[in-house]
Amino acid sequence: MNNREMMRLGLSMRYLGYHTAAWRHPDVPANGAIDFNYFLNSARKAEAAKFDMIFFADGVGVRAADNPPGSLTRDSKNAELEPLTLLSAIGACTSRIGLVATASTTYNEPFHVARKYASIDHISGGRAGWNVVTSWSQQEAWNFSRDEHLGYEERYERAAEFVEVVKKLWDSWEDDAFIRDKASGVFYDASKLHTPNHKGKHFKVRGPLNSARTPQGRPVIVQAGAAEAGREIAAEHADVVYSSSYDITAAKDYYNDLKGRLSRFGRVPDQLLIMPGLTPYVGRSRQEAQDKFEQLQDLIDPLSGLAILYGTLGDLSGYDIDGPVPDVGNQPVRSIAENLLSVARRDNLTIRQLYKLRASGGRQLIGTAEDIVDDMEQWFKEGAADGFNILPAALPNGIDDFAELVLPELRKRGLFRSEYEASTLRGNLGLKPLTYGD
Ligand SMILES: Cc1cc2nc3c(=O)[nH]c(=O)nc-3n(C[C@H](O)[C@H](O)[C@H](O)COP(=O)(O)O)c2cc1C
Repeated sequence: MNNREMMRLGLSMRYLGYHTAAWRHPDVPANGAIDFNYFLNSARKAEAAKFDMIFFADGVGVRAADNPPGSLTRDSKNAELEPLTLLSAIGACTSRIGLVATASTTYNEPFHVARKYASIDHISGGRAGWNVVTSWSQQEAWNFSRDEHLGYEERYERAAEFVEVVKKLWDSWEDDAFIRDKASGVFYDASKLHTPNHKGKHFKVRGPLNSARTPQGRPVIVQAGAAEAGREIAAEHADVVYSSSYDITAAKDYYNDLKGRLSRFGRVPDQLLIMPGLTPYVGRSRQEAQDKFEQLQDLIDPLSGLAILYGTLGDLSGYDIDGPVPDVGNQPVRSIAENLLSVARRDNLTIRQLYKLRASGGRQLIGTAEDIVDDMEQWFKEGAADGFNILPAALPNGIDDFAELVLPELRKRGLFRSEYEASTLRGNLGLKPLTYGD
């Protein structure tokens, strides 16, 4: 059971929405991903709707390969704004909503991350959050003078130390270290400076951070990544986990596992909020919701669809897209290929039908506001989630639909706020304020 009354909500704004064909939707400006006003518009809507935070996932480079040839030319994910730059601009134009962006521990230095997020926390009056990821693609490695992406263990070992160093840097100064006494000429109290002098396996960082302690004490730490090593980092350091669970049983197992780990780090379950991703397609009727979903599905370019299947089934571009899925031979991940092929056989699917089935990224709900809120309420009340990171299929229509249809239903059931409770992200999330030394 969840002992919170209200759920937390984030709006994840990646590209033009999470559906691969979002950019082709008639209500979506195709150049939005490089247009500041496009993001500001949705951020303001999310703030008017009292969302806890806007959230930017990120990758440091073009990740897709051109398989099959030509598919990359159909991909809208080739041009986007850098999320921290974007956040600082949005921070200046909003006043209450939390501002969370992703930064990779594999392709940054801790000092950079500590300094930038501390600055955003100051600029925004305590609304910054860092989503800690380790990155996953080979393509990103090539942008950072490496031939290969770091292996799993090294990546997570580095991540664990990275987070530790960033926290030490954020703790360089006590809250009242800067006395700035014009009369005596003393700018800071030397007894309140704690230079990290970190020396570890991956990092040697003297510090201190050239920033005062931030309005939230430290920016909120979000963690995304589900495997063992990621869970340990989350249990020790994170305030929020952005997870991706597809069914309630798996989500509850994950929730209980993660909350169960906290005591080993002297923490209590309420100090970590678990927010799975969710893509809603909402309509005034079930048919309307289904139509919205189908409208996007029908916009998937065949080459983009073939790219979705490429990693599992190889190049199917030589086959009739509206014909049966062929029996392809040896594939890199045989078990996944066989699974997919058996679904195609069982349901007599064409290639087009199969890629449509695979096109939806995260967990999606299609229905009326009541249908969607029934599901969210069950996850929340039964202890599978403390809230949700909403991953709209397309923007801005995704936030418009959610605010207009889903939010009134959530509020009718007493599950979501009508006003912000605090001025900081930490406060709105209901996390206890940090005192120096926590
Ligand atoms: C819900 C979720 C969101 C993620 N978001 C990002 C992201 O925005 N950028 C990124 O580089 N990696 C992202 N990742 C990838 C993780 O940081 C990690 O590299 C990957 O999940 C492999 O680790 P794992 O096996 O622990 O999940 C995300 C992972 C999950 C589960």
